[in-house]
Amino acid sequence: MTGSEAPAPGPAAPERELRRRYTAADLGVFTREEARRFVPQGEGDPRHDVVLAWELLYRLEPELYDRLASAERLHPGIAGWLPCKVNRIAEVGAGTGRLTMELAGRGQHVVAVEPALPLRRILRRKLAAAGHGERVRVVRGFFDQLPLPDDFADLVVACSAFTPAPAHGGEDGLAEMERVCRPGGCVAIIWPNHLGWLSARGYRHVSFPGPMSVEFGSYADAVELAEIFYPKAAGEVRRLGNRTVPFEVLGINPPRDLAFKMVPA
Ligand SMILES: C[S@@+](CC[C@H](N)C(=O)[O-])C[C@H]1O[C@@H](n2cnc3c(N)ncnc32)[C@H](O)[C@@H]1O
Repeated sequence: MTGSEAPAPGPAAPERELRRRYTAADLGVFTREEARRFVPQGEGDPRHDVVLAWELLYRLEPELYDRLASAERLHPGIAGWLPCKVNRIAEVGAGTGRLTMELAGRGQHVVAVEPALPLRRILRRKLAAAGHGERVRVVRGFFDQLPLPDDFADLVVACSAFTPAPAHGGEDGLAEMERVCRPGGCVAIIWPNHLGWLSARGYRHVSFPGPMSVEFGSYADAVELAEIFYPKAAGEVRRLGNRTVPFEVLGINPPRDLAFKMVPA
C-alpha cells in the first residue's frame, strides 16, 4: 500500500471503556433469575446504566474483571480486623475471591455465595490452586435469597458487593445476611458505598488510615485497565509511567472502610 491510499474499511474498533463496551444485545447472557433482578422491566441499556455494564463484565469478560480486582487490594487493616479463627463463614458476592482467599484459612467451613457462573469458575480454580478447594464451598445465590439456613455462620460478610439497591442487596439482602448470622455473630460489609444507609440500620463504621495505591501487574496493565475502567484518569496514569497508581488519581474511594453489626445473642 502506498502512503496516499486510505486503509480498507474494516469492522469498527470495539469500544474500550466499560461504559461503552456492551449493548442491550448482550443482556441475553443473564439467566432468568439474574434478569429478574438486574433488568426487572425486561430491558435496559448498559451504555446508560453502568451497574448493568458491571454485571455484563462479570459474565462476558470475567478474567478482565479479575485483573482489576486483583490490582485493587484491600487495606491490610481489614484482614487484621476480621476474626482469625471461627467455625463458619459465609461470604456473599464473593466474585473471584479478593476477600475469599483471605477468609479461606479462617473458618472450619467457608461458603462463598456468588451468582455469576464465570466468576464462580475462576474462584474455584484459585481456591484449588491455593489448596483451599475442600474447605471452601462455592455456591450460586443472591443476597435476597441466600441458600443457607438460619444462624448458619459466625461471620457473614460481603466485599464490594452490597448496596442499598434491591438488585444488589437492599433491605431484603441485609435481612438475609442477618438471618444467616448466628446470635452473637458478626455481619460485615467491606468497602461499603452507602455508610449512612448502613448506620441508620445499626451498623458501625471502621476506617483504616494511610496512603493506598492500586498495584497493577505492569505499567501496560495500568494503562489498559485505566482506559477501560477509569478513562478520565488514563492520561494521568500514562504520565505517571508506573504500575502503582494512587487511588486518588483514579478518583475512587480506596478500600479502607467496613461497616459491621454484632447480631444480638
Ligand atoms: C465488584 S464485585 C466484588 C466481588 C468480590 N467480593 C471482590 O471483592 O472482588 C461485585 C460482586 O457482587 C456480585 N453480585 C451482584 N449482584 C448480586 C446479588 N444480588 N447477590 C449476590 N451477589 C451479587 C457480583 O456477581 C460480583 O461478584
